[in-house]
Amino acid sequence: MADNGATVAQPIWEDLISLNSRGLAQFEVLGPAAEYREGDTHTDWSSEGDGLETALRRDTYPLPRTEDREGYYGQSHYSYWASGYRDSRLLREACDRLGVDLRGYLDLGCASGRVVRHFAVAGDVPEVYGCDLNRRHVDWINRFLPASAIAFQNHAIPTLPLPDNSIDAVSAYSVFTHIEAFETAWLMELRRVLRPGGIAWITLHTERTWATMNDNWGLYKRLRHHPDFAPYVDHANREELPEERMVFRWYADRSYSSKVFYQRDYVHKMWSRIMDVREDHHRFPSRQDVVILQKA
Ligand SMILES: C[S@@+](CC[C@H](N)C(=O)[O-])C[C@H]1O[C@@H](n2cnc3c(N)ncnc32)[C@H](O)[C@@H]1O
Repeated sequence: MADNGATVAQPIWEDLISLNSRGLAQFEVLGPAAEYREGDTHTDWSSEGDGLETALRRDTYPLPRTEDREGYYGQSHYSYWASGYRDSRLLREACDRLGVDLRGYLDLGCASGRVVRHFAVAGDVPEVYGCDLNRRHVDWINRFLPASAIAFQNHAIPTLPLPDNSIDAVSAYSVFTHIEAFETAWLMELRRVLRPGGIAWITLHTERTWATMNDNWGLYKRLRHHPDFAPYVDHANREELPEERMVFRWYADRSYSSKVFYQRDYVHKMWSRIMDVREDHHRFPSRQDVVILQKA
């Protein structure tokens, strides 16, 4: 409070470990995905076949505007929606391959529900959760997607308000690529909430990204100007990832402000102490690598 009793916009402690925690977000939304299909040439989604057509017909819920979805797919709103459909399908297929009966699903760092919405709308998974440290995203889901999905705000300290052994599959799409600290504690927290046999689908930047990224990648355009990246701007110096885990941080006083790379060897050695590394895919399905961990 200021001396005259008026409230002042001070930094709040919650925003050191989360984002937009004051809440009270106002949103404008887009229409349902089907309205944006025509003219969207970003990606050819025809190989998704009948599954996508069915999902498109039944998803009558609004889409988030580009700025409310981490910029994903720019103005290609239908492709944004279809990418979430594809990722949900790939996760379901991984569950089938690894013998997981999907009754409880959590998307860590779900943003405004790119993937969560597909489980929520399909309605065949009894418990669907999404969490994000950005309160705006959580509010978006809880306001605009069906009540079969519950979104909650978490923070950068690895704890989740979910019971032990309650979830069959966790995904984290493009989240460990930004987790600057406590990565092993996060993995242990995911292990705690997973049921035995449950899986975690985690996307990563590895030495394979490190060696191949170039000016066509948003990731590289940003990194190129980071002072710690200066020795590696020249591609010839980027054949090997020099450390097991490399963190490029932009701000010291907030979460979600870094880019993180992992050596695959490190992931296999360290992460397998926590869960079994069952699969390791290169650029699957887009630019990030994926590891699938399974709780014994
Ligand atoms: C690049 S976006 C990816 C969003 C979403 N997973 C997708 O694929 O559309 C990263 C998201 O992770 C969230 N995030 C970053 N660190 C997090 C953490 N420790 N816990 C939960 N969410 C986190 C960010 O707020 C952001 O919404």
